[in-house]
Parts: sequence; structure tokens; C-alpha cells
Amino acid sequence: MATLIIYMTSHGCAEKAAGMIREMLPGEATLINLENFEPPPLEKFDKVIIGGSIRIGSIQKKIRKFCEKNLEQLLTKKTGLYICCMFEGDTAIEQFNKAFPEPLRKNSIVTGLFGGELEFEKMNAFERMIIKQVANISVDVSKFNQQAVKEFAQRMTG
Ligand SMILES: Cc1cc2nc3c(=O)[nH]c(=O)nc-3n(C[C@H](O)[C@H](O)[C@H](O)COP(=O)(O)O)c2cc1C
Repeated sequence: MATLIIYMTSHGCAEKAAGMIREMLPGEATLINLENFEPPPLEKFDKVIIGGSIRIGSIQKKIRKFCEKNLEQLLTKKTGLYICCMFEGDTAIEQFNKAFPEPLRKNSIVTGLFGGELEFEKMNAFERMIIKQVANISVDVSKFNQQAVKEFAQRMTG
């Protein structure tokens, strides 16, 4: 059973999750960063995992476009969807719902909210300013939920 993991990241959190999922899945899994690579033909895969991160309320545009463009084909696969983001609870769910088309969400076998990380060294001046203004945070924070990633991979396997 071949699995494709498609992701995008700004500062590495969604990429870390993608790598962890690949390590935990049995069998062959292909990891594609949509920022740098075209997705391979989906016919080859029976499971597709799609993940990204939230910035100013939205997931990466290329991830959204990928889901919209390939929606019909994705609906024929076993799919798993995840986001990395700092907000928790209802806001995280709203951001997740906005990130992926409703039919895809409803058809997915697993969904994941993995939390997020703020690492100021990786941010540019504009990003630092946004985080300071919006969240009033100026030191590194990690809410990355490794357990949630593990459970996601286990449920994807089952
Ligand atoms: C400029 C900026 C804007 C952000 N906006 C949001 C947001 O609207 N909602 C949220 O939950 N998290 C937000 N975050 C937090 C990111 O989702 C978090 O840092 C996540 O771990 C990023 O994952 P990545 O490194 O894979 O891009 C923002 C972070 C930055 C730097």
C-alpha cells in the first residue's frame, strides 16, 4: 500500500510532522514538499496525507489549490488531513475547516491538529512584529503535540 504525504511549511513544524508520520507508517511512503516539487500522479497511491500550517488564518495557498484541483480523485482515496497552528480549541477547528474543502474533510479517515511552534530566530522582522502585536509573545513557544502526530499515524495505518 503506497502512501503519499504532501505538505508545506513556513518554518519547519508541518515538515517535522510529515517526517514523523512517514517514519511511523509501515510500507512505502513518498514525502513531497509542494513548495519545491510537483506532486506525482495520484493513481499510484491509495492513501494521501495532506498537511500545512496556518499563517494569519489561512493554510498555504498551494495546499488549498492542490486540494481543489484534485478533489474528485482525492475523494477516491483514503485521506488524512492535518494542520500546525498555535491557536487551540474552536479557533484551531475553524482554521482547519477553512483550510480544506468540506467534501474532502468529510471523506477523510483521519484529521489532525498538531499544535505549533514559534521560533523567533526563524522569523523575519515582519513576522516578529505580527506575532508580538497579535499574540503579545516575544519568546519561543512550542505547543507541538507529538502524541497527536503519533495517534494520527496509527489511525492512518489502521
Ligand atoms: C507570521 C505568522 C502568522 C501566524 N498566524 C497564525 C494564525 O493565524 N493562527 C494560528 O493558529 N497560528 C498562527 N501562527 C503560528 C503558526 O501556525 C505556527 O508557528 C506553526 O508552527 C507554523 O508551522 P510551520 O513552521 O510548518 O509553518 C502564525 C505564525 C507566524 C510566524
